[in-house]
Amino acid sequence: MSHSSISDVLAGKYPVESIITVKGWIRTVRANPNFSFINLHDGSCFDPIQIVADKNLSNYAEIMKLTTSCSLSVTGKIVESQGKGQSFEIQADSIEIIGLVEDPDTYPMAPKRHSVEYLREHAHLRPRTNLIGAVTRVRNTLAQAIHRFFNEDGFQWIATPIITASDCEGAGEMFRVSTLDSVNPPLTDEGKTDFSQDFFGKEAFLTVSGQLNVETYCCALSKVYTFGPTFRAENSNTSRHLAEFWMVEPEIAFADLATVAQCAEDMLKYVFKAVLNERKDDLEFFDQRVQKGLIQRLETLSETSFVRMDYTDAIEILKNCGKKFEFPVEWGVDLSSEHERYLAEEHVGGPVILQNYPKEIKSFYMRMNDDNKTVAAMDVLAPGIGEIIGGSQREDRLDILDARMIESGLNPEDYYWYRDLRRYGSVPHGGFGLGFERLVSYVTGVANVRDVIAFPRAAKSANF
Ligand code: 4AD
Repeated sequence: MSHSSISDVLAGKYPVESIITVKGWIRTVRANPNFSFINLHDGSCFDPIQIVADKNLSNYAEIMKLTTSCSLSVTGKIVESQGKGQSFEIQADSIEIIGLVEDPDTYPMAPKRHSVEYLREHAHLRPRTNLIGAVTRVRNTLAQAIHRFFNEDGFQWIATPIITASDCEGAGEMFRVSTLDSVNPPLTDEGKTDFSQDFFGKEAFLTVSGQLNVETYCCALSKVYTFGPTFRAENSNTSRHLAEFWMVEPEIAFADLATVAQCAEDMLKYVFKAVLNERKDDLEFFDQRVQKGLIQRLETLSETSFVRMDYTDAIEILKNCGKKFEFPVEWGVDLSSEHERYLAEEHVGGPVILQNYPKEIKSFYMRMNDDNKTVAAMDVLAPGIGEIIGGSQREDRLDILDARMIESGLNPEDYYWYRDLRRYGSVPHGGFGLGFERLVSYVTGVANVRDVIAFPRAAKSANF
């Protein structure tokens, strides 16, 4: 017999008095000789369902010995619950014990509050906790909403490659992929490993961004996006950096920077609304236990316009704000996290879209502005987290692109395919990259991106 999901039962999908079967794991249990109250969860929603078992059940003696995380199949009648905050409960007719917890005293996920550091050390068991369960459902809702947003707006989803030869961001933070024999690798004339032979005779890396590839499809299908894993070999041991993270990268043809910024704002508001509508249960948990006022903040954000500000104006604000920063501010510097946070948290008090950065601190592909000093780049900075989106209008003029590549130490010939887009029917176009874990962190209030991805891979993170 098929079983019902606990979220459907709690949502009232079945009439009272129906006989149903639910399957799940025990969150908590209170047993006494006449009745036992079991809170059973199956991950389909935040709340468990209360199962009432009475002593007439044939295996009641075993039921009295159950502990957290034992797995059960319960068949019984739905009744309205007398308990506070519970809509329905199940009066069990039969309880099949599927899996016991051997040695409950040493079970690492006992029902109490654990630190996130402790949970990271038990990456295989942490999905069972309230925190990681809620993060997982919200993450799923956000991902589905992102696909929906783009689909409804006529974007095509493109699968860009993971293995690549090009360093999109030009920052030299690529992980090498190799098919070479590590014991007897081919050697160069100087006797060093010949990495140009890496990948079946070529040099290859894990992608840092799907952007350059997705631009090729943009210049044919007009509105496209890629959404997949990306990799950065940056040795940043911070709460915002992962070595493997997911990125959402739309790319729009016949578009300028303002169009790209508007798309970013619309997408964020769309996904905030989706999570408010679809995961109220999990958001209430985050609001109570992780970050007070979170729901109110998301509601406000999904209705108010994001402030736009030029980099040059931001520098003036930072210089004149009277605050002492660890890294001094001058026109031309790359903003660090303390500056980004000041702008979003203290100056604006909400997300801010910073635009038109000095060309020296940005990538070669960003479109040069008429001042010849700045490029049409934008970052979305969010309170509490800093940069969650980076994007730009792309350089669509071949001569300027070539000059920027050479300036950045790249060989234009290696990018012949990227240059071809500018040779054959070039169009103004642009896009952005949203760091998906930073978005999940922002929406849940969970401070460290390592706690919003199933198996974090990061500098100095030991657990795999
Ligand atoms: O600003 P980034 O480096 O931009 C790009 O990669 C562009 N090619 C995107 C594009 O225009 N299509 O990265 C984009 C976003 C950042 O704003 C940040 O949210 C996230 O990716 N990000 C990281 N997230 C987690 N861990 C890291 N190490 C990250 N590096 C960047």
